[in-house]
Amino acid sequence: MPRCIMSPLDLTVSELDDLMRIAMDIMEKPEKYAHACDGKILATLFYEPSTRTRLSFEAAMLRLGGKTMGFHSADSSSAAKGETVADTIRVISQFADICAMRHPKEGAAFVAAEKAGIPVINAGDGGHQHPTQTLTDLMTIKALKGHFDDLTVGMCGDLKFGRTVHSLIRALVRYANVKFIFISPGELTLPSYIRDDLLIQNNIAFREVTKLEDVLPSLDLLYMTRVQRERFFNEEDYVRLKDFYILDKKKMELAGKDMLVLHPLPRVNEIATEVDSDPRAVYFEQVRYGMYIRMALILKLLEVEAAKKQ
Ligand code: NCD
Repeated sequence: MPRCIMSPLDLTVSELDDLMRIAMDIMEKPEKYAHACDGKILATLFYEPSTRTRLSFEAAMLRLGGKTMGFHSADSSSAAKGETVADTIRVISQFADICAMRHPKEGAAFVAAEKAGIPVINAGDGGHQHPTQTLTDLMTIKALKGHFDDLTVGMCGDLKFGRTVHSLIRALVRYANVKFIFISPGELTLPSYIRDDLLIQNNIAFREVTKLEDVLPSLDLLYMTRVQRERFFNEEDYVRLKDFYILDKKKMELAGKDMLVLHPLPRVNEIATEVDSDPRAVYFEQVRYGMYIRMALILKLLEVEAAKKQ
């Protein structure tokens, strides 16, 4: 069975280190990798909207010399005719060498992975997991902070539905002495499979608060997220909660001079654009790291890493 990536835990800490090392090398010497995937095809199967993730995967494959194909909404695929994910992936396996799949249903990528003849990368399954965003986040932290151990990480916004948060927590608990401060309205706190089954079960240090201002001075990292409108059951609740947090210049004055602000993007209102010019705001750099780490992941899953690079 081909190797698939459903969760960040599908990669060991040493494999993650290796991926980040390769991604750094690609950033420094892109020409060394420019033909590593000549003749290979990446399929992007996106049943749910995306700008960054899909284009980041496509840019990654193109920069490795490969080609891409795919669809960017369920309406433009045979899903609209009632085809199952299991059948679609069997078909795509005949065309492509690797695929990235996003789906609004939790677990859809697992179904695909079971039937696929090619490596499947989960590019987001509902409110569940988003492993390559986590690779992006880890790469950004590694490049700009240099380490993961001993960090105090604030995560703010929609911690209930935000799959990027769920995946990043899973990845960070594997490092020593990482402390979490979860900042959210009472209705958007972490699901119990993260809070109870992962954090409490493993004795991980964390606090849950509602006020961002109170904790800003103690953070090494602030991971901001948008309220996930598409996963709400009613619009009223969304409207009430959507502007609960707005990080602005004034609040940034409370933060340490080395605190980094990350955001998986898209941003809605939760970070005022006036913060963008603050050197601690690294969310656009983060997007760039995302492309390089996806390049490294594609190389690994296609096992062309050692063969093609000199
Ligand atoms: C995230 C996602 O799709 O979960 N976006 C992304 O992939 N960068 C975050 C979000 O949509 O809020």
